[in-house]
Amino acid sequence: MRYHQLQPKNLDFSFHLLNSDNIQTLICLKDLLIKTSQVKGDVVEFGVGRGRSLIILSSLLSYLNSKKKLFIFDSFKGFGNIDFKDNSLRNPQKGEWSKSPDQKYQYNVKFIKKILQIHLHPKNKYPIKFVKGYIETNLPNFKKLNKISFIHCDVDLYLPHKVILENMWSKLSKGGIILFDDIEKGIKSKKFPGAVSAFKEFFKGKKIKIYNLKNRNNIFVKKI
Ligand SMILES: C[S@@+](CC[C@H](N)C(=O)[O-])C[C@H]1O[C@@H](n2cnc3c(N)ncnc32)[C@H](O)[C@@H]1O
Repeated sequence: MRYHQLQPKNLDFSFHLLNSDNIQTLICLKDLLIKTSQVKGDVVEFGVGRGRSLIILSSLLSYLNSKKKLFIFDSFKGFGNIDFKDNSLRNPQKGEWSKSPDQKYQYNVKFIKKILQIHLHPKNKYPIKFVKGYIETNLPNFKKLNKISFIHCDVDLYLPHKVILENMWSKLSKGGIILFDDIEKGIKSKKFPGAVSAFKEFFKGKKIKIYNLKNRNNIFVKKI
């Protein structure tokens, strides 16, 4: 079936439609992928969710004629264990993000592949390496990542943030960037205090440069 025949007549994936939030994400990811295009290493997304940012990353890497590998990590079963550092009014629960809010769609690998098939023109498709499982279990033993130029970190919680930083920071090349989707300007977050705790614990005493995004209320770190 051709891409234009797959337009979501029978699907209500409104999350994936063009709106300000998605436009801002696009602008920000484009800017950071261009900034790191000459930096050695691959691109990694932690936290695939409904595949919204993945559609953008895939389109951009193909548009930029990138030769980098794109790895994506997710449990595809939603949140794992919640740490006490994650406590907030947002009240995250194990298994959240395993399904769409109306419970209609399971955010598993098959669903994400279908989303990519529906929402990406064939010219915007990019080879993707899916890594399924809880990050705290998978990542310390994952051997296929050597050098990294860009990380999109969108996993909300303390434990995966901690494990990502502990395992990926040494692999991030000089000039490489980590975009933290859940950490706001001023290193704070009402919804995801665990992400902030993991960030502060890991970077304590380390020399880093923190940047505020121009068009979104979150931050990225560049390795110097
Ligand atoms: C906010 S969603 C990501 C949204 C996505 N970037 C998008 O634009 O659609 C957070 C994702 O992180 C994943 N996640 C959270 N903790 C995880 C863990 N410990 N291991 C693996 N995946 C995890 C969840 O399954 C969920 O898909």
